[in-house]
Amino acid sequence: MSEVTVHPVSAEWADKALIGAEAYAEKYRRSLAEPDAFWAEEAKRLDWIKPFTRVKDTSFNVDDFRIRWFEDGTLNLAANCLDRHLADHGERVAILWEADDPATPGRRITYRELYAQTCRLANALKAQGVKRGDRVTIYLPMVPEAAVAMLACARIGAVHSIVFAGFSPEALGGRIDDCASDVVITADEGRRGGKTIPLKANVDAALEHHAPNVKSVIVLRHTGADVPMVAGRDIDWADAVAGQPGDCPPEEMNAEDPLFILYTSGSTGKPKGVLHTTGGYGVWVSMTHEYTFDYRPGQIYWCAADIGWVTGHSYVVYGPLANGATTLMFEGVPNFPDHSRFWQVVDKYGVEIFYAAPTALRALMREGDDWVTRTDRSTLRLLGSVGEPINPEAWEWYYNVVGGGRCPIVDTWWQTETGGHMITPLPGATALKPGSASTPMFGVQPALVDGEGQLIEGAAEGALVITDSWPGQMRTVYGDDERFFQTYFSTFPGYYFTGDGCRRDEDGYYWITGRIDDVINVSGHRMGTAEIESALVLHDLVAEAAVVGMPHDIKGQGIYAYVTTIAGTEDSDDLRRELIQWVRKEIGPIATPDVVQFAPALPKTRSGKIMRRILRKIAENDTGNLGDTSTLADPGVVDDLLANRPES
Ligand code: WT7
Repeated sequence: MSEVTVHPVSAEWADKALIGAEAYAEKYRRSLAEPDAFWAEEAKRLDWIKPFTRVKDTSFNVDDFRIRWFEDGTLNLAANCLDRHLADHGERVAILWEADDPATPGRRITYRELYAQTCRLANALKAQGVKRGDRVTIYLPMVPEAAVAMLACARIGAVHSIVFAGFSPEALGGRIDDCASDVVITADEGRRGGKTIPLKANVDAALEHHAPNVKSVIVLRHTGADVPMVAGRDIDWADAVAGQPGDCPPEEMNAEDPLFILYTSGSTGKPKGVLHTTGGYGVWVSMTHEYTFDYRPGQIYWCAADIGWVTGHSYVVYGPLANGATTLMFEGVPNFPDHSRFWQVVDKYGVEIFYAAPTALRALMREGDDWVTRTDRSTLRLLGSVGEPINPEAWEWYYNVVGGGRCPIVDTWWQTETGGHMITPLPGATALKPGSASTPMFGVQPALVDGEGQLIEGAAEGALVITDSWPGQMRTVYGDDERFFQTYFSTFPGYYFTGDGCRRDEDGYYWITGRIDDVINVSGHRMGTAEIESALVLHDLVAEAAVVGMPHDIKGQGIYAYVTTIAGTEDSDDLRRELIQWVRKEIGPIATPDVVQFAPALPKTRSGKIMRRILRKIAENDTGNLGDTSTLADPGVVDDLLANRPES
């Protein structure tokens, strides 16, 4: 391991931050030693309708497995994000919106306006027959109405399932089917980087082959494009809310009632519906948003993630709004119309806290410092990173060029499953080591285990597990408790298995080394290799496919697909291109393979298992060291793969 530059906490941050080094140590100690007292205190950050009497009731053991937090308390999370802010700061801006095209005027929506819009849509949903517990699928671009739709569901106790607007009709349809939504909320079109995304057309296509139970599709007019409306099923958002009252009593939800489902890829083909509940999730995202970002009311905060991912749920909408923050929503992309776009938006709104994925930073870094340094950025005080490991070079660029050496960087490690930040520096407490997510959040007990599931102490490398529950933890895979237990709690009994490998250094800092299951991380987005393989084999000419990750300068990992075509097929460049388009169409652009290698056969053991280790090595171009190939049924297969590795 090469030397890392440690950036100590500045005197100013140590002095002014909500949590300094001593406070961190003391609070962390207490969160583990007296969890009930600690969390009862933190739970006061939310308004409860009926207070809870029981705080933590959890076990990761097979015999008495359960995850329940604040279980007899009741609350409404939309009311916590809206109603309680009205009395003192109803006129404060809740959402700042910046359009894809800088020439389009932005929007400023106060808490009072957001409240009224949410209530109107909540009433409209009720009028469409949506009841407490029903699932509503949201397929919207990055517009304030996406937050309105989430909050409207939460207000009436409906469970939202957001599908990222970049997913294909096929992926959307599968997700609507899985949770049996009967209402879909979408827009005519989305806009990103100057291109339009045919959202309504995608919904129509999805509903041709899926989800016969969908009764209504609510369509937001965003670009104003003329889209076909199905009579009796489709309804204009404006018509749906017209005449609906601007008040809607919040449904009294139990702390453990579901709040949302969010699909994420795992090591098997079918995406899992990660289910989060109300009370624990609310406490977790509010607490982590405040402490990690040292958030003070009134500050302008921008998380550049899309609401289609968990980062958008927790840190564009629920965490910030629960804390009465001003949260910026950006419809566009970092490089449109040019590579200064992020920093122009920072200057336009006076952004103080900026949170983005390393992949975007690496792409911008490549374009040169000028795009950054020609902007002012003097309002920035804190930077955040999320979604994938940040390489020290990108970290230093972010710190020195973007942040002008003034702003601490919080490298937040967490997952869709964890609801919010798990391992992260706190800006006033943690000396920063570029590339390390550093130390655990309150209540989080990370540990490393070896291949046998034995805990390993001290400076070491192993599989990252969490040994006890935290309030923001997912509660189940929607409709499949058994899969939930099998996926996360059976590999290392008694522990939550993250799927990540990790190193802990002599100072107790954690360094995430990446996924150790069949999941790859492409531009901060999680892709299951099995999902891409399933899409490939749906093509008539594909007999078999195996997908692995490969190193990629910008995306972190790229997608490398080995494809065996059916006998007699000509493995042409045209077919290669066709297969790449095929996967884009089946899943969406984020799943586009970077390399397709035709393989007459895949390396398999005598029992027929594909040896992915070898495929990974070839994809990484680490071919000098393929390890033991003696157990292969036909070792000659490997020579062929090596000889025909395409240039990438
Ligand atoms: C996986 C979770 C975190 C919300 C967005 C992605 C990787 C995430 C970091 C980080 C290193 C990271 C892990 C994790 N990851 N943050 N700061 N450093 N790796 O959520 O799609 O559920 O993916 O992203 O591999 O397991 P997700």
